[in-house]
Amino acid sequence: MNIFETHAHYDDDAFDKDRDFLLRQMNKEGIDYIVNIGCSMDNSREIVEFVKKYDFLYGTVGVHPSDIDELTEKDMKELEELSKEEKILAIGEIGLDYHYDNVDKELQQRWFIAQLEIAKRRNLPVVIHSRDAAKDTLDIIKKHHNGVTPGIIHCFSYGVEMAREYLNMGYYIGVGGVVTFKNAKKLKEVVEYTPLDRIVLETDAPYLAPTPYRGKRNCSLYLTHVAEEIAALKGVTVEEVCATTYQNSKNVYCI
Ligand code: NI
Repeated sequence: MNIFETHAHYDDDAFDKDRDFLLRQMNKEGIDYIVNIGCSMDNSREIVEFVKKYDFLYGTVGVHPSDIDELTEKDMKELEELSKEEKILAIGEIGLDYHYDNVDKELQQRWFIAQLEIAKRRNLPVVIHSRDAAKDTLDIIKKHHNGVTPGIIHCFSYGVEMAREYLNMGYYIGVGGVVTFKNAKKLKEVVEYTPLDRIVLETDAPYLAPTPYRGKRNCSLYLTHVAEEIAALKGVTVEEVCATTYQNSKNVYCI
């Protein structure tokens, strides 16, 4: 079984001790592609270099909504330049996160829109992060993006109604370790509802490890557990889940 990992953060400190060792196991274990996702200006710069070290590693550049406080127009210009680098496939992760009270919603919206505009100009896919901000994210995407380039709604955390909106606009649903949790009723319903040809596999490593590794450091090798749960929910084989999501990921990232 070959797997396409659409969302991981191998530049994270959690991998400092064994990053190279771990990444070198990936191909042997059937992880054919990994996309390492950008979160800040600094780490977007790093990712451009990091992805050159491994054949199977690709990257995205973008600023996460919790990292937008000090952004400037100059940063946006630089981000657009970084997006032209080799092996950079998308703009992300970008979006809105209202989970904590101390966020400036308007500022988040401003930089989310600015980064969607970069994706449009560059004709690149987007990787969307949205937490506790369902309505504003949907409104902005409808108005400013609406599937003009492909995209993944990463770590999907809303219900079936919201999934329908994104599917209608042509986006893909990113499903990770959370789907294996017993209490993840809403996400299980979304997976049942979503056609398999619109789902992609992701870890968000080092976060959100699936059962039986819940609470531990996550990595792409655990994606088989996510694929097994999706297979059970949809009544198909795990091979079919891996093969279909693999092709979906190639479609969305255009590789
Ligand atoms: Ni992430």
